[in-house]
Amino acid sequence: MAKSAVFELNDISYAYLPGQAALSGVNLSVAAGERLVLLGPNGCGKSTLQKVLAGLIFPAGRVAAFGQDITAAAMSDKKFAAAFRRKVGFVFQNSDVQIFCASVRDEIMFGPLAMGLPPDDARQRAEETMAFVGIGALADRLPHHLSGGEKKKVAVAAVLAVNPDVLILDEPTNGLDPRTQRWMLEALAGLAAAGKTVITATHHLDIVGELAERVAVMDETHTIVATGRPADILRDRELLLAANLIDERYHVHLHGDDGHVHIHRHEAARGRHP
Ligand SMILES: Nc1ncnc2c1ncn2[C@@H]1O[C@H](COP(=O)(O)OP(=O)(O)O)[C@@H](O)[C@H]1O
Ligand SMILES: [Mg+2]
Repeated sequence: MAKSAVFELNDISYAYLPGQAALSGVNLSVAAGERLVLLGPNGCGKSTLQKVLAGLIFPAGRVAAFGQDITAAAMSDKKFAAAFRRKVGFVFQNSDVQIFCASVRDEIMFGPLAMGLPPDDARQRAEETMAFVGIGALADRLPHHLSGGEKKKVAVAAVLAVNPDVLILDEPTNGLDPRTQRWMLEALAGLAAAGKTVITATHHLDIVGELAERVAVMDETHTIVATGRPADILRDRELLLAANLIDERYHVHLHGDDGHVHIHRHEAARGRHP
């Protein structure tokens, strides 16, 4: 059975400031249940594209989600916007812009309450989600006083509590310690296995194989310049060089065909491998 499209983007462009493109002529289709990575160097437009997908900004061109056009006018309808936000959850790169409640429990109950669950049910949903994410012990803490990794888990839990079909995560492993990074990668794999559509943005090649079944490469022209399976994208040294994802001294070594990579920096001057 053909998978239905969650998102269809046709020739979208966006500029925060006149004459300075953040996105330029992007075409993208995302299938239900797909694990897609937006891969590109700093400033290429990954976060901007994710904000478009999350219905937070409205570019020129056509954006459709679940077969309906997503426009500022459509989203000004409260019912339409609420239905969209139940289906599409966005985890910001910076957790501080996402968390605002006086306790972790309140933070995670916020979404369920906003979608109209009775308080007891919202609380139950929050307890389950905190247990799933492993932050039950933090329930009464002030979110802003938590560590970066703990804040990230709170932000993820706040999104998961609404049980959206689509999860969009901006640089989800950035700034996390190795164990929390591993937790994040496994949590996202588990959510994808449960049928969620998972769209992540990153510039880290070493996590692409684990995060993606399809990669969309963006470059400094602010558009998608290639899409493909992780193994094929990661093997394309010319593409990665041109997109500023590696420099001349990096070599990507693929292990097997699943996009699992080791990235080595060669000591070019001395001509030896580290
Ligand atoms: N709030 C903003 N105001 C003005 N320019 C912005 C803003 N956010 C991003 N930009 C610009 O838009 C372009 C794309 O940025 P962004 O989507 O954040 O890229 P990425 O996430 O790939 O690093 C960059 O040139 C960046 O400077
Ligand atoms: Mg970004």
